[in-house]
Amino acid sequence: MNRELFSKWGFILATIGSAVGLGNIWKFPYITGEYGGGAFVLIYLITILFVGISILIAEMFLGNFGKSDPVTTFEKVNPSMRWFGLMAFNGLIIMTFYSVVIGWIFYYIYSSINGLPTSVSEAEKEFKTLIGDSVAIQIAFHTLATLIVLHFVNGGIKEGIEKLNRILMPALMVILFGILLYSFTLPSFGKAFEFLFYPHWEKLSSEAFIRAVGHSFFTLSLGMGAIITYSASVSDRVNISKTALIVAFFDTLIALVAGLIIFTLLFQFGEEPSKGPGLVFISMPVIFSQMGGVGYFLSLLFLIALAMAGLTSAVSLVEPAVLYVINRFGLTRFKATILMGSIYWFIGIFAILSYSNSYGEFWSFFGKPLFDIFETTTDSLLLPLSGVIIAVVVGYIIKRENLNKISSEMGGVFSIWYISIRFIAPIAVIFLMLNLFGIIEL
Ligand code: TRP
Repeated sequence: MNRELFSKWGFILATIGSAVGLGNIWKFPYITGEYGGGAFVLIYLITILFVGISILIAEMFLGNFGKSDPVTTFEKVNPSMRWFGLMAFNGLIIMTFYSVVIGWIFYYIYSSINGLPTSVSEAEKEFKTLIGDSVAIQIAFHTLATLIVLHFVNGGIKEGIEKLNRILMPALMVILFGILLYSFTLPSFGKAFEFLFYPHWEKLSSEAFIRAVGHSFFTLSLGMGAIITYSASVSDRVNISKTALIVAFFDTLIALVAGLIIFTLLFQFGEEPSKGPGLVFISMPVIFSQMGGVGYFLSLLFLIALAMAGLTSAVSLVEPAVLYVINRFGLTRFKATILMGSIYWFIGIFAILSYSNSYGEFWSFFGKPLFDIFETTTDSLLLPLSGVIIAVVVGYIIKRENLNKISSEMGGVFSIWYISIRFIAPIAVIFLMLNLFGIIEL
């Protein structure tokens, strides 16, 4: 069996790199804007604390227990459960749109060199032209994103994934904190702070709760074996529960920092926060252009940070399936990487087509473009469902004595974790599912 080890810091950085991604900088601010700010943030923090962190610890434990790809790990728990390990393929489904979005970011880096849009209508037009008319350009940038990701996955745990994260993660943090310091000097910083942290309860809905739970899985990279796979490649001496807390802390911190930056700039230039997925691609470029010279520079830094966050997450979305194919079918890493990469790259083209003006209707089902179908089925269905499988396997199937490593790490907190993994997390997800299928109205 193929087993390469991360260094201790390499593991921590790579796991933070997996968690901190487009989910934090692109998605978190726009869903927070859509659901009205503070109350959503509070619900999100509570779900991270009670559902997210406990499943994160469970996934790390499973990885450390199985020391292999997700399929082999579940097989080690119980041979009949090996099918659960196929959750590794959730990552490829996510990549069909994730890689396309990284491609958009690359396109924006390229186009912003030629100048920024000066009005919202101009920016809207640019974004609509990109996703509606420019199929070839999007395929080109989706291909570029794919090649970069595959290059690092092909390098393996140490020479590929660890190296990428050792450089990009510190750089990402420096850039984001630099922009945060700048936003701090702007008068609207206080308003952004209030928007994020003062809960307006009247704006809260059950839908916001569902989105918060779904997003807590996505943002912590749970429910597809990414964390299992990374934790399989770490020395037994590493303290799992402490690492999980560090990862959740940085993931949440960076989402909040991104939110503070984006809302400060939005309010400063009189924009509305509820802009949806176009927030980063439509509102931000206009704001940057209104800032003059410094805006041009900030825009480039912001987009580069976004690209870096996306790439370090993308490698973790591909690696579990690659490792599975290497271990099970004896492929070389190179062949496995090309094979798994081609699958999501190819399907990604249909995600692109589903947004285009000419082919969109053909590649939509039940009135929804394929792009959105891939996004919502993973985020609202497959990730929470796989997360609950992980919770049940660790909470009920694994023998209690196998949990000694983490119970000695956690001390008194262990019993709280054990309750949340056995009861709180599964119940939260069951509510989510019942609501999703319209069986109950929350
Ligand atoms: N967490 C990443 C983000 O916030 C996305 C991601 C990476 C992911 N690996 C994952 C999501 C595994 C679910 C499962 O953008």
